[in-house]
Amino acid sequence: MGESGWGVRSLSPCGLLLVVCASVCLSQQPSMKPAECSRKEHPVVSHQALRPWMFEFSHPGVKDYSQLAVDLSRNQLIVGARNFLFTLSLSNVSLIQATEWAPDEDTKRSCQSKGKSEEECQNYVRVLLISGMTLFTCGTNAFTPVCMTRQVGNVSAVLDTVNGVARCPYDPRHNSTAMVTERGELYAATVIDFSGRDPVIYRSLGNMPPLRSAQYNSKWLNEPHFVSVYEIGRFTYFFLRETAVENDCGKVVFSRVARVCKNDMGGRFLLEDTWTTFMKARLNCSRSGEIPFYYNELQSTFYLPEQDLIYGIFTTNVNSISASAVCAFNLSAVTQAFNGPFRYQENPRTAWLSTPNPIPNFQCGTLEEGSPGGNLTERSLQDAQRLYLMNDVVQPLTVNPLLTQDNLRLSKLVVDIVQGRESLYHVMYIGTEYGTILKTLSTSNKSLQGCYLEELRLLPPGKIGPIKSLQILHSDRSLIVGLDDRLVKIPLERCSSYPSEVHCLEARDPYCGWDLKQKRCTTIEGSSNMNQWTQNITQCPVRKP
Ligand SMILES: *[C@@H]1O[C@H](CO)[C@@H](O)[C@H](O)[C@H]1NC(C)=O
Ligand SMILES: *[C@@H]1O[C@H](CO)[C@@H](O)[C@H](O)[C@H]1NC(C)=O
Ligand SMILES: *[C@@H]1O[C@H](CO)[C@@H](O)[C@H](O)[C@H]1NC(C)=O
Ligand SMILES: *[C@@H]1O[C@H](CO)[C@@H](O)[C@H](O)[C@H]1NC(C)=O
Ligand SMILES: *[C@@H]1O[C@H](CO)[C@@H](O)[C@H](O)[C@H]1NC(C)=O
Ligand SMILES: *[C@@H]1O[C@H](CO)[C@@H](O)[C@H](O)[C@H]1NC(C)=O
Ligand SMILES: *[C@@H]1O[C@H](CO)[C@@H](O)[C@H](O)[C@H]1NC(C)=O
Ligand SMILES: *[C@@H]1O[C@H](CO)[C@@H](O)[C@H](O)[C@H]1NC(C)=O
Repeated sequence: MGESGWGVRSLSPCGLLLVVCASVCLSQQPSMKPAECSRKEHPVVSHQALRPWMFEFSHPGVKDYSQLAVDLSRNQLIVGARNFLFTLSLSNVSLIQATEWAPDEDTKRSCQSKGKSEEECQNYVRVLLISGMTLFTCGTNAFTPVCMTRQVGNVSAVLDTVNGVARCPYDPRHNSTAMVTERGELYAATVIDFSGRDPVIYRSLGNMPPLRSAQYNSKWLNEPHFVSVYEIGRFTYFFLRETAVENDCGKVVFSRVARVCKNDMGGRFLLEDTWTTFMKARLNCSRSGEIPFYYNELQSTFYLPEQDLIYGIFTTNVNSISASAVCAFNLSAVTQAFNGPFRYQENPRTAWLSTPNPIPNFQCGTLEEGSPGGNLTERSLQDAQRLYLMNDVVQPLTVNPLLTQDNLRLSKLVVDIVQGRESLYHVMYIGTEYGTILKTLSTSNKSLQGCYLEELRLLPPGKIGPIKSLQILHSDRSLIVGLDDRLVKIPLERCSSYPSEVHCLEARDPYCGWDLKQKRCTTIEGSSNMNQWTQNITQCPVRKP
């Protein structure tokens, strides 16, 4: 697997690319410049070498460790898996409480009678959110979604049960997302029906009126796969991919950021019980060139609030050659697209055209900060009904992706900011479909761009499986990883495992440096003195024979 060029040989009428040469490094075409194939094999840490650093949890018969919630006040980790909720000690993931949460026999039977399999007719936890003293949980419950409010310190204690429809998917495979705001409103993006044809962005609970996206309107949402949701300032932002409605050249999927105002009250007469502030914009993650190569399909995101950056994993379509990329977006670039013109189609037979934004810098109708006496700018309902697709595309932080990887579909990522000797580094932890984590440098510096620091094998030899959930724990500098049949916790760094100066420096790990006084490989915190602590992050580390 190496850095490769995409050979573009022909251009079909609608600008669809025909990719002829996917991976030049694998095929070793002699005509290719050697520089294009210069990526060396990265260090790989075997499961055996990782074992002493790893804490592991599994429970007989339990699968799908896909939801994680951290309760820092009790030092506990709450885990949602198939038919179970677990409370674990955060320090060593040992079991504190196991709560079975399976569908009852009648619900299972009715699920199977509708043609679903035994496997599908289980309860897959898909929403697990801590909100103050309560834990909000939803599960697919054999295609009969249900939600329960529980006590954070005792997950078995159910305080309330509500319908899970429009909060949790029916089908465990469906891609949904949900979040509770600071004020207690639940925002969910999922499907509202058994067959999965009616997508919705829905607000409920809390003190605001329930609102949804326009029903059966493919211009709002068109076969979407929801990825994530964040509360940022006055808005709630959703990340998703969907079939592009503005592209009349065959079926193509675009990645999107959508947003609504948290103070949206819905319309009157027009857009009743419906968002009046819904807007969406396309995200661009591509390799530049005369004809850019697009990674159109967003798979997961990570929000770094300290820097207002959104990192995303993008892939090609499953029906084409598999390739992944990581792009990062500045929130200011997202805002810029939302402040720009809209794209609007007068009627289904006409083209989508750019039209000016009636309220650039729309702030949800709240008073502009710092301008007393400023005016309340509400969106008109007529505008809300026709203007929601932005004309401008959100461009990433760097022209080319921070990382590209052929022949692999990456799944989840988290990002840490690390203080090195010379500078701050962003380190990405990326989950693969093989049960490994790629620890990767994220930088715009060409000589270090996309360096794999190491690949960590979390599963024993002979086992593979996708990473289902990832959570970074800054409090004790570790990573919690949910897989299909287990949950593991690993430290972010293993500096003390490098026995010599050469090993320490050649790891090129920004967490680690050689302490000249102590003659040990340490973290910056463990160093005796900054002047005695050396690093040499000048190139990507290479695998030792
Ligand atoms: C795990 O940590 C808890 C406290 O955090 C402790 O009580 C328990 O003994 C530890 N278990 C193991 C197996 O180390
Ligand atoms: C947790 O809640 C359950 C159900 O309400 C109750 O039976 C149990 O005693 C509680 N456990 C603790 C430790 O409070
Ligand atoms: C959800 O997303 C995953 C990963 O992109 C994909 O493989 C899967 O097919 C999606 N689920 C559904 C029901 O389409
Ligand atoms: C996406 O970014 C590439 C690289 O900068 C650029 O060439 C292309 O025009 C952009 N595409 C869109 C739709 O903005
Ligand atoms: C994001 O944009 C803001 C405003 O344009 C800028 O000040 C900031 O440096 C940008 N962040 C990064 C990481 O480039
Ligand atoms: C508020 O709106 C009124 C009428 O549209 C206008 O005359 C006034 O200048 C506006 N005030 C501010 C501070 O923008
Ligand atoms: C740092 O690494 C480079 C190779 O990238 C090497 O040439 C150089 O000698 C190293 N410096 C130290 C102090 O180890
Ligand atoms: C990129 O990294 C190399 C190696 O550490 C360094 O020599 C160079 O100055 C860096 N370039 C920039 C633009 O920071």
